[in-house]
Amino acid sequence: MKIYRAKDYEGMSRKAADIVAARVILDPNCVLGLATGSTPVGMYKQLVRRYNEGELDFSFVKTVNLDEYVGLAQTHEQSYRYFMQKNLFDHINIDPKNTHVPDGISDPEEECIRYNRVLNGFRDIDIQVLGLGHNGHIGFNEPGDCFQKDTHIVNLQQSTIDANSRFFASRNDIPKRAITMGIRQIMQAKTILMLVSGEGKADIIKEAFLGPVTPRVPASVLQLHPNVILVGDKAALSKL
Ligand code: GLP
Repeated sequence: MKIYRAKDYEGMSRKAADIVAARVILDPNCVLGLATGSTPVGMYKQLVRRYNEGELDFSFVKTVNLDEYVGLAQTHEQSYRYFMQKNLFDHINIDPKNTHVPDGISDPEEECIRYNRVLNGFRDIDIQVLGLGHNGHIGFNEPGDCFQKDTHIVNLQQSTIDANSRFFASRNDIPKRAITMGIRQIMQAKTILMLVSGEGKADIIKEAFLGPVTPRVPASVLQLHPNVILVGDKAALSKL
């Protein structure tokens, strides 16, 4: 595992964008696994800036996102599809047909089958970007008794619902379920790029990478991946 300690959020975002940009330059047909949440927003800004400066071409790049809330349409401001459009896709020359996010309003069971098919249709993901939930979740793989392999429906834990409540006007609007890529699918990525920022993530980062590998801390499974790059700011990495 490689660890990059950045001074602050800006530095973390720049380093993460360097790593993704290098992949896009080396392999213009690459498959990027993308994540949402507040942590990768700065990285997406950097990638858009580099695209605008003519350094990057996304015309043959393919993307697959980790997850989506059940019940939110693509046009809903808090849907992850909307997030991706607003933070990245609308600002670069990616072909919309090459961007994949689970659909929140299709029948969830059917959508899991469809999304597994989409993922199986690709060669492996070249770089999978990950954030980290305060309870150790990756994508929306919540702590549980076993690792779930493929795309599945998740009942979000109360702590996750609480953490995401800051984005919704009323508590009743917060989705209680999500569709997420499974752990096997994440682990099959050639490179994992995890981003962490802020002292609020320091304890869970320590548990995930220095504690036992357990489905109780889903991110701990990354200890078994041969090519993990962890990019964090000083505060998030302070206990590692
Ligand atoms: C959500 C997303 C995760 C993300 C996590 C952390 O639960 N499904 O993919 O990693 O939030 O979000 P943040 O980066 O805002 O701390």
